[in-house]
Amino acid sequence: MSLLELHDVSMIYGSVKALQGIDLTVEKGEWLALMGPSGSGKTTLMNIIGCMDKASTGSIVLDGVDFTDVTAGNLTMLRRDKIGLVFQQFHLIPYLTAVENLMVAQYYHSMPDEQEALLALERVGLKERARHLPSQLSGGEQQRVCIARALINYPMLILADEPTGNLDETNAKLVLEFFQQLHREGHTIIMVTHDPKVAELAERCIVLEHGRIANRKDRRIVCREEEVS
Ligand SMILES: Nc1ncnc2c1ncn2[C@@H]1O[C@H](COP(=O)(O)OP(=O)(O)OP(=O)(O)O)[C@@H](O)[C@H]1O
Ligand SMILES: [Mg+2]
Repeated sequence: MSLLELHDVSMIYGSVKALQGIDLTVEKGEWLALMGPSGSGKTTLMNIIGCMDKASTGSIVLDGVDFTDVTAGNLTMLRRDKIGLVFQQFHLIPYLTAVENLMVAQYYHSMPDEQEALLALERVGLKERARHLPSQLSGGEQQRVCIARALINYPMLILADEPTGNLDETNAKLVLEFFQQLHREGHTIIMVTHDPKVAELAERCIVLEHGRIANRKDRRIVCREEEVS
């Protein structure tokens, strides 16, 4: 059984067809890159897979659970239990330290465990920064806190929407190395990126255009096309 299956998923906002007829299967342990021009529906698709939004039509099955008819409350529970989210804009709570940000995620899932949260920060190389506020951390460090937060509840799927979009080259490299490590460990990753070099790290790359999957060719061909467009 695949980890994630989307059948004929569409998302309509008024007169805007943000997604149309998306069919997509993601296997456990796969790293999928999602590319496409601005406004093509990448974030919309991530929000639907990440249980932050409900599709207008179509079916989504994650780990055997069909999202189609679940209520908004149950979607929140699914997100907490199964999904780890990493955003371009970090979305850390500004008045809480790095370790407290992780403990909030633990609290919403089950119960806070400071030792475990500290270990998670150590894993992303931020042991010494655990008591710092987000404003006292560099962009790359904040993104690594976000990755630690995304992993803290052992999600079966990691969704990352342009995780290196706000980072300089050095920090982007560090963050990507961490994603490569997660992939080697068997995590399933879906990552939105505008950067063909980032997409090259993934096993597979799909391109959205006007809310549809435009291409399913070999990732190298797709990435090259993206580069010239
Ligand atoms: N809440 C909303 N209400 C109305 N329209 C929306 C909403 N969210 C997204 N859209 C529209 O849906 C389309 C897809 O948006 P989306 O954010 O998914 O694009 P994207 O591929 O992530 O773009 P970018 O690369 O700029 O982040 C756009 O035309 C956008 O204006
Ligand atoms: Mg987007």
